[in-house]
Amino acid sequence: MGSITWKVLNPGGKWRVVVTKELAGESWLDILLEAGCRVEVCDSKEILAPGEIRDAIGERCDACIGQLTEKWDEALFACLEAAGGRAYSNYAVGYDNVDIDSATRHGIAVGNTPGVLTETTAEMAVALTFAAARRVAEGDRFMRSSDFSGWLPTLYLGKLLRWKTVGIIGAGRIGTAYGRMMVEGHRMNLVYHDLERNQSLEDHLAGFNRFLESQGEQPVTCRRAANIEELLREADVVSLHCSLDQSTRHIIDATRLIQMKDDAVLVNTSRGPLIDEEALVEHCRAHPLFRVGLDVYEDEPDMKPGLSELENVVIVPHLGSASTWTRNAMAVLAARNVVGVLLGYPAWPYPEKIAIFLEEGCPKAVPSIINAEHLGTSIFQG
Ligand code: DGY
Repeated sequence: MGSITWKVLNPGGKWRVVVTKELAGESWLDILLEAGCRVEVCDSKEILAPGEIRDAIGERCDACIGQLTEKWDEALFACLEAAGGRAYSNYAVGYDNVDIDSATRHGIAVGNTPGVLTETTAEMAVALTFAAARRVAEGDRFMRSSDFSGWLPTLYLGKLLRWKTVGIIGAGRIGTAYGRMMVEGHRMNLVYHDLERNQSLEDHLAGFNRFLESQGEQPVTCRRAANIEELLREADVVSLHCSLDQSTRHIIDATRLIQMKDDAVLVNTSRGPLIDEEALVEHCRAHPLFRVGLDVYEDEPDMKPGLSELENVVIVPHLGSASTWTRNAMAVLAARNVVGVLLGYPAWPYPEKIAIFLEEGCPKAVPSIINAEHLGTSIFQG
């Protein structure tokens, strides 16, 4: 296994759980150890190759906790089933790296970690929006180059967002949280695109408008766009919050980039392949006022040629969920997913009440199993 090293805890434990990266915090490990698991944690930073994960699963493995950087496909689930495995939990809310159908065919429950990333990821989208609109990274580079010789009236002029329009593609949990931050904090008007109408977002902003009017302030607008093109034409800021699948791959391509305003801000904290990154590089070269904030990349961890040289692009290394609280909470949910399956607990049916699993003495249920229905897992009653 080359430089890959593993740490073994509670070697005599009754269930063998393989964890492909050291996770944040300590509570997750306590949960696994208290349940009597032998835990093997990869303590190397390298992304594991499929063969290395198969070697780690070995001949006997009851469950794994894996990463979004690993492709959990038919071969890995076949290997896990052959080793007696029953559960796999992704240490992420997104699971485009997991072949759910294969897992189901092999009788393996697949967990994820929803609900605890919402605000943290939305805050990163806000940070990237302003970093791009107000040229924070350019200013930072300029200061470090020692070229700053004093305040100037036209130095790094950016874009004021107040009363402009923010467009959200994918108005699920994170998109909604981001939208509310931009509207409530910065009085932006909101247009969203989603397959479903987001009634609770619309109702919420209607309530916000009643508050604004009571203060003698101008109300904001909120509406669902009939299609993506309409949103792109109207929005000054476009933030992507849809999950990645065949229908959303390259949802922003050369044609759609051209439909956006020349000085729009585009933000992606979801998954890199939502954007055709080569087309984005071309577009940014041709439109210097167009600004971009990226947390994720099409060929992550690589970037398409030219991207890192663009002044109008702010880039961070997939940090959307990277607050200490969230990463600790994700680890707790991943551990509880695995332990819950091993103990034969029923699936938790209240996704909006998942934070209960961060508490001691939480319900005897599995917090989030994506294929629970297909596996015929019983549902928690109560
Ligand atoms: C997720 O959970 O899907 C995130 O991308 C991790 O930050």
